[in-house]
Amino acid sequence: MKRRAAVLISGRGSNLGALIAAAAAPDYPAEIALVLSNRGDAGGLALAARSHIPAEVIEHRPFHADRAAHEAAIDARLRAAGIELVCLAGYMRLLTPFLVGRWAWRMLNIHPSLLPAFPGLHTHARALAAGVRVHGCTVHLVAEATDSGPILAQAAVPVLPDDDEDRLAARVLIQEHRLYPLALRLIAAGHAGVAPAADSALCNPLPSGEVPE
Ligand code: GRF
Repeated sequence: MKRRAAVLISGRGSNLGALIAAAAAPDYPAEIALVLSNRGDAGGLALAARSHIPAEVIEHRPFHADRAAHEAAIDARLRAAGIELVCLAGYMRLLTPFLVGRWAWRMLNIHPSLLPAFPGLHTHARALAAGVRVHGCTVHLVAEATDSGPILAQAAVPVLPDDDEDRLAARVLIQEHRLYPLALRLIAAGHAGVAPAADSALCNPLPSGEVPE
């Protein structure tokens, strides 16, 4: 049985596209059953429509500053759709403890840096400014602090001498599109178990019995 996953977006939805493509494989352990956006102009909505995936807009603006009420509407929709796992993919709203708590250990996020380096915005510009030689992306379980939580998977890319923000972002994005489907696969198939009392994921992508040196 495939796990029913929802993807929350705010923008172009290229990671959503990668998840949809991966989930089309018959042996993929999750299906993308719902797409929710807080913005009616999110490019990813068209992507969902083309793939015949139910997609809805729950704008945050009508809720004014009441984040918890907006999240309650999202949570209600997720539950009504029988969603088991939630993937944040370019969802540009800070979450309150309410939604994080409701989906504890079942909500993933992709972040365009090698966390814990560069949480927050403008990660590629900050990586360039810091002069790091290696940059990348992270998929993690969502905890209350922004861009924190047990790390499920990471992918690294080199920072090259002539990089600007766009070139570096494009190199990272290629890896994001590989990494997110891999991380969702691990969670949906039960290969990455997480004990709520622990503060790190028990992530073992190796077939059982295969132990690294
Ligand atoms: C990605 O870089 C993701 O890591 C970050 O927001 C961006 C979303 O891009 N959280 P897209 O909408 O998936 O194309």
